[in-house]
Parts: sequence; structure tokens; C-alpha cells
Amino acid sequence: MKILYIGSGFVGACSAAVSADSGHETLVYDIDQRKIDLLSSGDRDTIQSCLYEEGLGDLLIRNRERIKFTTDYALVEEFLNTAEAVFMCLPTPEIGETGESNLSYYFSAAEKLAESLLKRNKNKQTQYIVIINKSTVPIDMINKTAEIMDKSQVKNYGVVSNPEFLVEGKAVQDSLHPDRVVVGAWTEKDFAIMRQVYNRFYNSANVKYLEVNPKEAAAGKLLANFTLFNKLAICFDVIGRTCETFSDLKFENLRQILTSDPRIGTWGMYDSLYAGGSCFIKDARSLSHQLQTAGQNAVMVNETYLANKRQLELFMSRAEKEVLRPAQDKSNFSWTGKKVALLGLAFKQATNDIRNSPAIDIVRILQEKQVGEIRCFDPAAMFWFKTIFPENEQMKYCESEVDCLGSVSPLTKGDEGGYSPTTPQPPFIKGGNSDCIVDVVIIATDWPQFRNLTTSLLNLKNKPLIMDGRRMLSGDYEKLKENGFVVIPVGGQVVK
Ligand SMILES: NC(=O)c1ccc[n+]([C@@H]2O[C@H](COP(=O)([O-])OP(=O)(O)OC[C@H]3O[C@@H](n4cnc5c(N)ncnc54)[C@H](O)[C@@H]3O)[C@@H](O)[C@H]2O)c1
Repeated sequence: MKILYIGSGFVGACSAAVSADSGHETLVYDIDQRKIDLLSSGDRDTIQSCLYEEGLGDLLIRNRERIKFTTDYALVEEFLNTAEAVFMCLPTPEIGETGESNLSYYFSAAEKLAESLLKRNKNKQTQYIVIINKSTVPIDMINKTAEIMDKSQVKNYGVVSNPEFLVEGKAVQDSLHPDRVVVGAWTEKDFAIMRQVYNRFYNSANVKYLEVNPKEAAAGKLLANFTLFNKLAICFDVIGRTCETFSDLKFENLRQILTSDPRIGTWGMYDSLYAGGSCFIKDARSLSHQLQTAGQNAVMVNETYLANKRQLELFMSRAEKEVLRPAQDKSNFSWTGKKVALLGLAFKQATNDIRNSPAIDIVRILQEKQVGEIRCFDPAAMFWFKTIFPENEQMKYCESEVDCLGSVSPLTKGDEGGYSPTTPQPPFIKGGNSDCIVDVVIIATDWPQFRNLTTSLLNLKNKPLIMDGRRMLSGDYEKLKENGFVVIPVGGQVVK
């Protein structure tokens, strides 16, 4: 089959790669020239510097004969003469804090597509084509897509809803081995085309292939994301909070008690300082907006959103509430002038995505509190973080988590943690500032390598306050306490 993808982000690029791997002739269009250049580079590291998804580079290289990336719409128009399906993989962020989805990216791409569909087959429009909504969209979006096509007098088309359930960080793996494929269509003709598109999964014993109507498919995605978001919120706002409130409760032990019940399950049962990323928050907000616009209440959906918001604020406020200065006056901890090591900038491990990353709000809070210096490190996301917080006197980007702690001075320029595809990499400039001492260490992302930080901490000249926002050092809290450290763990009382 010939399949067009519009939008080459995490969803578009990964599903297009799998489409090519399934034997389809695949064209991917995006307006971002830089992204297209990187994705079509044919070089694994360059591809992954753009979208840090394990296996994406190899998959694209292996299938390079069947997949092309372009910003040239003339190529798209040519392709549409014989294409059987087009996947819409556009961003659908929230408009401010209104809950409403910003559909302008989608509409602009759909209107342009409509103009081109009119021209196919020398204006005869003989080729039947299915327009597939892969973006996460409002429940009635299928009608809006059809309206755009009808208004432009596009003929011979169908609209299908096929939401994406991949998990960032495992996007390629999830796209190659999905647990389910949900196809929402109104007609048997469209279902039949989608079965061909997903031939590899339709006939697989391991994949649930679900055929529903388009509104059910769109609603299913929003409800699935809300259910997961809610589970995360229960974990930190109820289970974690209980462990923070009463003494002698260890989060990991409580978790064992709960997860031994298969009805509760293990997913999401990890404490964290925030559920970030591009989807959970905006999809919950969108669901709430749609319910409220239809005259319903959305108390529980809204409360989950608020629980997430307050989690980060509560975590960051704990130092001032729970730690006393060692000085004689025993006054409360103050952030002013402190040097802070911030470990982890991506919203979670195994991705370079910083959308709604807790680290962004942490930096803003620290800046408001007028800390002296913020020394950051992330194995994958420093390039993108620098686009929001450029390096300056207060913001420093370090070579590793250990360097962040102060044993080596920060890099002065040019290093983005090895993930800056377009910036030339000058040699690291080290100032040999081994006297740099941090006052606070905040762990904000669950990169596995941060679990091994205890030895480095024990080797420091001083004993910074440790704020473990992911319980990465939970096995070592007692050891750290014995060595004079104070630890504020999420999901636990202060250890001192
Ligand atoms: N990221 C995820 O984990 C995930 C999972 C499931 C569903 N989704 C949903 O899928 C959709 C896409 O998400 P994403 O993470 O891939 O977004 P993304 O921001 O990574 O990618 C979107 C791409 O669309 C491109 N684009 C914008 N306007 C365009 C236009 N007019 N024409 C062509 N390209 C255009 C952008 O340049 C960008 O490359 C969203 O609705 C999202 O909610 C995302």
C-alpha cells in the first residue's frame, strides 16, 4: 500500500517506520525542515538525536527503500494520486489552561490536504483514500474532518479514527508489538482498508485488534489516558501522601501489599513528584472540557489534574517546612543563594522529551526563590532544556550527574549531553573547580543511572540536602542518614 503520514513527531515518525517495516511504501511530510533532515539522514545517531527512541534509527535505516521524509508538498501531491491512506499525526496541545484542544495544527494540515486531494487523478479524484486521525482528538473530531473535506468538495474518501497508544521511550517497541490496535470507522469499506494497513497486526495472535465506531475510538483514547493519569495521581496523592504523613511506613512495602492483588496491578505504582509528558495532562484537560461543555460535571477528572499540580508544589515546599538550618538560630531552610544540583530534565527516563517535565517548573520555582546556581544534568534532554533555559551565570549544564555534584566545574559552552545534532561539539572545557560545593541535590527523573549515586554522595566533602523526587535512592536512605545526610524522599517522611 502507499501511505502518507502528515507530522513526523514521536507518533508520526515511529508509526511510519513500522508501516515501512510492514512493507508499505511510506511518505512522511512535516513542515519542520530540520526534523526532516535529521530523520532522513540515514545515520542512526543523528536520527536518535532528533527523536530519542530506542530502535528508531535502525528501523528507518533498514527500511530506507520504502520510507521517504519530505517538506516538499509537490511530492505529497504526486504521492496522493495513488495513496490509499493518510495518517494525521499533528500536535493537539491544550490552549493555555482552558482544557480546549488547539486543533489549529490539525486544521491547517487538513485544509491543505483537502486542496491537494481535489487535484488527484487530474481532478477526477478516482482514487479512494482513507484519512486516519492518529492524533489524540476530541470525541466528535471525525465530523470536523469530514466537514473540511466536504467544504472543499473532496470526493471518494473515508475518515477513520485510529488513536495511538504507544508509550514514549518505548515507542518503536510499542509500535512493533502493540497490545491493541483500535480502529474506529463507519463503513465496512474503511474497516477493510485498515485491515490491509495493519495486516501484520490483524492476523497476529498477540494483538487485540478492536473495531469500533470512530467516536468510541477517540473517546477510548481519552479515557485510557485519564485512567492511567488517575492511577499515577492515586499513587502519589493518596498512597505516597499516607507514607509521608505517618511514621514507619515505607512506600516500597506498602506497594508490595497493594500490588500483590492482581486487581490493583503494578503499572503506575511508583511514587513521583509529577506526571509530566505531552499527553496525560492535556488529554485529561480535554476530556474535562468536553464533559463540561456538554453540561456535565468533571469533578474527578479535574481533581486528578489538580492532584498532579499540587504534588510538585508540595514536594518543593518540603525543604522549607521540614529542614532546619544547622546554625544556632535553628531557623528554617531557605533556598536563597543556594547551589542546587538538578538531576534529570526529561519528563521520564528513556526519552529526550521535556514537554511538561517537572524539571521546568522546578527551575522556575528555584529562580523565584533566588537560588545562587542551578547545575543540571540529563543523559538525553539537555539540548532541548537549553532552548528554554539557556546557560548563564545561574544555569549551568554539567557533563554527568557526578559533575553536577561539584567535583568538576560545569562545561562552559557547546555541550548538550551528546544530543545536539546541529551544534558542532567543541572539546569539553573543564575549569577544574573541584571546590564547587552544592547545597541541595534534587533527583527529578528516573534515569536508572541515578540509582548509583550514593557512593558519589558519600565521597563529597559536604553533605548536601537530598530531595529524591523519584525514590531512586530508597535502598540507601538509612546509609545516607548514618553518614550525616538529610533526605527528603517523595512518598516518605524526611530521613535525618
Ligand atoms: N507522544 C506520545 O507519546 C503520544 C502518544 C499517543 C498519542 N499522541 C498524540 O499524537 C499526536 C502527535 O503527538 P507527537 O508526540 O507525535 O507530537 P510532536 O509534537 O512530537 O509531532 C508533531 C509533528 O507535527 C508537525 N506539524 C505541525 N504542523 C504541521 C503541519 N501543518 N503539517 C505537517 N506537519 C506539521 C510538527 O512539526 C511535529 O514534527 C498528538 O495528538 C498526541 O496527543 C502522542
